Amino acid sequence: MNRSVRWAVCVLAAVSVAVPAVGAMKPASARQVSSNEARAQHQSARAGAGAEPWWKNAVIYEVYPRSFQDSNGDGVGDLNGIRSRLGYLHWLGVDAIWMTPIYPSPQVDFGYDISNYYNIDSRYGTLADFSRLVATAKKQHIGVLMDLVLNHTSNQHPWFIESESSRTNPKRDWYVWRNGHKGPDGKLLPPNNWQSVFGGSAWQYDKKTGQFYYHKFYIQQPDLNWNNPQVRHAMYNVERFWIRHGVAGFRLDAITTLFEDPKLRNEKPLLGKDGKPVINAFGHVQLNDSLTNNLPQVHGVLRQLRQVADSYHRHILLIGETYLSSVNDLRKMYGAHNDELQLPMDMQVGFINRLDVARFRKEINEAETELHGDEPLFVVDNDDNHRWERYADAAGVKDPVERGNIARVLATILLASRDTALIYYGDEIGMVTTVPTKKSEVRDPVGIRGWPKNKGRDGERTPMQWNSGPNAGFSKAGVKTWLPIPPSYKTVNVAVEKKDPNSLLHWYRRMIALKHTNEALHDGQEIMLNTRDEHVLAWLRKTPDGNAVVVACNFTGQPRTESFDLKPEGVKGRRVKTLMATPGDASGQTLHAVHLGPYGVFVGQVE
Ligand code: GLC
Repeated sequence: MNRSVRWAVCVLAAVSVAVPAVGAMKPASARQVSSNEARAQHQSARAGAGAEPWWKNAVIYEVYPRSFQDSNGDGVGDLNGIRSRLGYLHWLGVDAIWMTPIYPSPQVDFGYDISNYYNIDSRYGTLADFSRLVATAKKQHIGVLMDLVLNHTSNQHPWFIESESSRTNPKRDWYVWRNGHKGPDGKLLPPNNWQSVFGGSAWQYDKKTGQFYYHKFYIQQPDLNWNNPQVRHAMYNVERFWIRHGVAGFRLDAITTLFEDPKLRNEKPLLGKDGKPVINAFGHVQLNDSLTNNLPQVHGVLRQLRQVADSYHRHILLIGETYLSSVNDLRKMYGAHNDELQLPMDMQVGFINRLDVARFRKEINEAETELHGDEPLFVVDNDDNHRWERYADAAGVKDPVERGNIARVLATILLASRDTALIYYGDEIGMVTTVPTKKSEVRDPVGIRGWPKNKGRDGERTPMQWNSGPNAGFSKAGVKTWLPIPPSYKTVNVAVEKKDPNSLLHWYRRMIALKHTNEALHDGQEIMLNTRDEHVLAWLRKTPDGNAVVVACNFTGQPRTESFDLKPEGVKGRRVKTLMATPGDASGQTLHAVHLGPYGVFVGQVE
């Protein structure tokens, strides 16, 4: 999907998560061992016997470091803050965290503009803090993933400073420099019509050397020239450096955009369903990005990155930020010989952006059947898009209880599918997007440039809501936090929800525990059920030895009753035991009549 379109998704309202949920599982608090630990123990017991890599069926949690926990009272989150919250993530059952970039950076794009790949930005801490974070996380069976930005650097990176210094500098060719051309009126024009994802031309003129450089993102984020072997070599060394510092893997930023058409041909306008050109959130005709995104050359780089990763004894994971619109393109990202990414992000499921049963069924089924059995990585939310409540808004649902139920539907799709699940911080408590109300408050340059049509990404990056005390427990009392604390923090926070066994937080925790410990939910095949139903999305998870779980999610505001015939799927059991259910739906369920309230969920073990 086109990025500007993604970022144009909208807006928000407060949500209550205090929806009673009845689960047949043992209350989470009664268990001694966190579910990620149980899973890690199980895996190490199998080690040596062709053990599966740690990331299979795992739960990865995206942390936005600026907003997770401030330990030094400067209003910005930091590594020591994250370390102090690992106990919570362990309790939740998280297997790994991915942190958005923490390298030294002028912070034009909040860390996605890196000026030194070998250190930590002083706002977040030091390399020693990083090592302590990795070591403490390891004790909690939590891996740490670095965000690796390979497409571009900051314009303050020494490589670029050299590159722009003269046409003959040895680093000139490390970036994409091209001549402009004269327009009819004699004015110098950029080499072609390519656009920046963040609005305007993707070419920036440099007066001193009389050429343009290419930037897929901001002007301050010049693209590296991946055709240059020295660039590749330099970046593979960065990869090695962080592996030696103990990371469990990487999330590869904007990985599909490494290459551009060498002939510099113009891109064509993107056409909407009505056949007319799409106008993007910056008011320009949107181009189809076919010559600047997902070029085949990227696969060679992925193979080399994977070779580096595989040269270590541990399972180093490569996740890709892969906004691709077809399952065929997604499949290619794993590599023809499973030698590229282990987990390209599947954005086709989580970013449908409406509760459309047929679409979810199709996309989940494709991930199950068209990826040659490879593991999908599902994701509903991230730091670039409005949070989960966009689904409730698209359905026009205002009732807080029903909105909470929709959050459970999404959590269930994420955690009860055969996938690795990626959770965005705060989603587990139902944090909602809180967009700035005034232009003067906007911090994200996307919002500054796009205001008021595109208010940027601040809304989904607000500080984590830990408790109902000052600054929501994110920072000390009296500190001005880098983004304001959303008003919802009084009721939507970790402390309040931890105390309420029926909260969304406990729903997440129990679902994660089931994903880790229930055999069918752990790695059973996923088969869509009742595939003509337009109201309820239902599926079966089953293992070859007959362990079976049925999952049903009501996509409507009306109560529904579903009947399942599992004989054609070879399931022998005729009875069903509730594992998880939204209120009132736990008891009296049979395979012939599963009752679902408005946006209700049922997860049952077939016996
Ligand atoms: C990715 C990141 C986004 C960033 C961009 C440029 O899309 O998720 O936050 O602005 O890359 O690095």
